[in-house]
Amino acid sequence: MSAEPMLVSRQLARDPWWRDAVVYQVYLRSFADGNGDGIGDLAGLRTRLPYLASLGVDAVWVTPHYVSGGADGGYDVIDYTAVDPSYGTVEDVRALVTDAHALGLRVLLDIVPNHTSDQHEWFQQALADPSSPFADLYHFMPPSESPPNNWQSMFGGPAWSRTPDGRWYLHLFTPQQPDLNWDEPAVADAFDEVLRFWFDLGVDGFRVDVAYGLFKDPAYRDNPGIYSPTLFGHGPEQAMTTNQPRVHQIWRRWRSVADSYPGDRMLVGEVSLADLDEVGLYARPDELHHAFQFRLLKSDWDAAAFADTITEALAAFDRVGAPAPWVLGNHDKARQVTRYGSERRARAAAMLMLALPGSAYLYAGEELGLPEAFVPDEARRDPIFFRSNGKRAGRDGCRIPMPWESLTRNAGFTSGTPWLPIPANWPAYAVDRQAVDPSSTLALYQQAILLRDLYPALGSGQASVTLTDGVIRVDLTSRFGDPDPITCYINMGSDPVAVPATQVLLASSPDVPAAADGSVTLAPDTTIWVRL
Ligand code: NOJ
Ligand code: CA
Repeated sequence: MSAEPMLVSRQLARDPWWRDAVVYQVYLRSFADGNGDGIGDLAGLRTRLPYLASLGVDAVWVTPHYVSGGADGGYDVIDYTAVDPSYGTVEDVRALVTDAHALGLRVLLDIVPNHTSDQHEWFQQALADPSSPFADLYHFMPPSESPPNNWQSMFGGPAWSRTPDGRWYLHLFTPQQPDLNWDEPAVADAFDEVLRFWFDLGVDGFRVDVAYGLFKDPAYRDNPGIYSPTLFGHGPEQAMTTNQPRVHQIWRRWRSVADSYPGDRMLVGEVSLADLDEVGLYARPDELHHAFQFRLLKSDWDAAAFADTITEALAAFDRVGAPAPWVLGNHDKARQVTRYGSERRARAAAMLMLALPGSAYLYAGEELGLPEAFVPDEARRDPIFFRSNGKRAGRDGCRIPMPWESLTRNAGFTSGTPWLPIPANWPAYAVDRQAVDPSSTLALYQQAILLRDLYPALGSGQASVTLTDGVIRVDLTSRFGDPDPITCYINMGSDPVAVPATQVLLASSPDVPAAADGSVTLAPDTTIWVRL
């Protein structure tokens, strides 16, 4: 391939870097343990940065590293400007940023503004004294027989719990995560300082937890319906607790904080709303740089569902001039291999995602083709499992530590006892094995990301999507005016299909017989990137 001139043009045109970035989500607790206590940490992550650089990603998003009560995997923060001792110190974050930058990687932290930990100093003061100004920073209601309204916790049960003195307080997640009252200006002021603290240290941005939340209906009216985790996201049934228009003023404010720093800092919000046009509003030019849409993540292995989602998401983000962020897996969702039913399908889906214009978010371990792991009940940690009385399995199965070395104890994750049990077959997925196997899933991700860097038509520019007989065809052209369009096909049907192609650049499975007549036969559950 005559790729050199295109590589130059793409890099020159990759401005700002986040438009079409590949971001790798590190689940800090499960990535790499630096000190043998069984818990992944910043020191461990630093030792694995060269791995991420060789994978070719642009940035690393690190799940919450703050001092935490540990009720929801770090999403219950006690101190927003301190590092949990299990993970290291503030100096370790500084060192992480320095090392990452030296390797050409950016670092995004995870910030949690919708709620604090119940052990946060503010909440403790509010508990101790109902008339304290700190009580205004949360949603308290006077004692009464039953909860103030019908709002439900997303993890099950009512969203209201009682204080020892009988008041009610609001928590959309666990009772250990009281929701902040963002109508109180002191809250926004405090978060500006938190952003600045970490930006001053050199971090490149933040993933914003529950960015569709923060504000609640001022009159605390009942929600019209009940949220179901099987929906594409929150909709009108949750109108009183999500997507309040006042939240956009906060993203404008955060955007101006980010923009006051040099070097293209960025913000990506978790916007778990069903309506893609509503999601797009969070990524208007003066708001968040990226707004996650989860419709693809929540779509079953179904060609029409995938094709519709891609078309509608591209249109929704186009309307606001923002890049579409794509995501197939994260720490809240069962692994692709298990959800789709095979590693073959997971590989095909990954290549589809990496071809689409916009940014792509990978979740640690998906590049190894990890399946959802079985976790015995006694080892479970996720509050979803406990709050639903075991009805919902929860998210532990996608949070199992990473397998690094096939012949080392605990697959090289820790010399101690891992915080979640490591399945017996984990060594088969280890990085050291896959790194020397050109047919491995790791090798596929590496090649796909490399080609994405080489060919401006991939991961950037325009896409037109068509669906025929279970095959989605995506015609891709760059936004840099190169004359080298690429077509991506994914066969989600059950029969092989002949498709036009003169040259196959990459295939998710090896069996792609080329014909002399300018077509190739695409087996089911396979993606190819081709020249026509
Ligand atoms: C979304 C996060 O991704 C999830 O892990 C967490 O439990 C909730 N927000 C609450 O912070
Ligand atoms: Ca550790």
